[in-house]
Amino acid sequence: MEDARKDVSPVDASAQPEDAGMELSLRPKSLSEFIGQPKVKENLSIFLEAAKQRGEPCEHVLLYGPPGLGKTTLAHVIGNEMGAHTKVTSGPALDRVGDLAAILTNLEEGDVLFVDEIHRMNRTIEEVLYPAMEDYALDIVIGKGPTARTLRLDLKRFTLVGATTKLSLLSAPLRDRFGSVYHLDFYGEDEMTSIVRRSAALLDIPIDHASARTIAGRSRRTPRIANRLLKRARDYAQVRGDGTLTPSVVIDALERLDIDPRGLDQADRALLRALIEKFRGGPVGLTTLAAATSQEVDTVEEVIEPFLMQEGMIERTSRGRMATPIAYKHLGMEQPGSSQ
Ligand SMILES: Nc1ncnc2c1ncn2[C@@H]1O[C@H](COP(=O)(O)OP(=O)(O)OP(=O)(O)O)[C@@H](O)[C@H]1O
Ligand SMILES: [Mg+2]
Repeated sequence: MEDARKDVSPVDASAQPEDAGMELSLRPKSLSEFIGQPKVKENLSIFLEAAKQRGEPCEHVLLYGPPGLGKTTLAHVIGNEMGAHTKVTSGPALDRVGDLAAILTNLEEGDVLFVDEIHRMNRTIEEVLYPAMEDYALDIVIGKGPTARTLRLDLKRFTLVGATTKLSLLSAPLRDRFGSVYHLDFYGEDEMTSIVRRSAALLDIPIDHASARTIAGRSRRTPRIANRLLKRARDYAQVRGDGTLTPSVVIDALERLDIDPRGLDQADRALLRALIEKFRGGPVGLTTLAAATSQEVDTVEEVIEPFLMQEGMIERTSRGRMATPIAYKHLGMEQPGSSQ
C-alpha cells in the first residue's frame, strides 16, 4: 500500500498516525494542567464544581472548534475532574441502535460518555439518544407491526460529552439537549509557548524560551501541531547538530519542512497564490478554489481556511473567498489598486 503519510503536511491540524502515542502521553489530565482557553476553563470549572457539590453527574457538554485544539483532551479532563470513568465512542462508529444501547446500558452512575465527531451520527441513533440524554432512559421497540410495543429501560445518570469541528451540522434538537456548549479557539502566542515548554519537559527535551517561542510561532496556534513540530525539531537537532535546540536549529528544521515564519505550509501558500493569481484576489467560491488547488473541499474548509482566516489573510464574503492585503504582503506580491 502507498504510504499516505508522506503527503500529509506537518502543519495539518488533523490527527495523524504519527501523533497517536505522543498525544496520549502529552494530554493534560486536569483543568489546572490545561493551558489557555481561560473562558472555557473558568466556566467549566464552575459547572463541574456545582455538579460535584450537588452530588450529581454534570449536565451534558458540547465542545466545538477546529481540529487539534483540545476537545478530546477536555472530554477526558471532565471525566477526571468528576472522578468518573470516561468511555469513548464516535458518531461514525455508532451505526447500529444495538451498539448504542449496549454502550448506554453498560454506563455506571456518573460515567462520562465521550462521543467524538458527534455531527456524523445518523438520525436513528440520534433519536435513541434524545430520551437517554433527557430522562436517562432507553426506549426499545419490541416486535413489529401492530403488536410492536415500546419498552423503557432506565439508565444510570451519565454525562455525555460531544465534540465536533462542525457545529452547523448538528441538528437543533440535539444541540438543545446539551447543558452547556463551549467553543475552543486558536491559542495565543504565550499560551502556545507554554504548551511547547510543557511538552518538551514531559518528553525530556531541553529547550530554551526563544526556541520554544520559535516553534510556537509556526504552529498555527494549534497544540497538536506544536507537539509535532517539537518532535521534528528534536530529531533534526539530534541528527544534524549536537542535540541542542536553538532558535536557528529550529528554524532550519522547520524550513526544511517548508513551514514559513507564520506557520503556513506549501498548501496554504498555494491556495493564497491561486486566489491571487488565478482569481485576481477573489471573490471566488469554495468549490472552484478547491478545484484550482487540487484540494478536497473539506480540507480547504476545515483545515486550510480557518487558520488563514484567523491570520486575517482570507476573508469570507457572501460572494466567496477574498485575499486580504495581509495575504499579498505575506507572499511579497503587489495588490492591484494599492498604488504605493
Ligand atoms: N490546552 C492544552 N494544553 C496542552 N496541550 C494541549 C492542549 N490542548 C491540546 N493539547 C495537546 O494537543 C493534542 C491534540 O489535542 P486533542 O486531541 O484534544 O484535539 P481535538 O480538538 O480533539 O482534535 P480533533 O478535532 O482532531 O479530534 C493533545 O494530545 C495534547 O497533547
Ligand atoms: Mg479529538
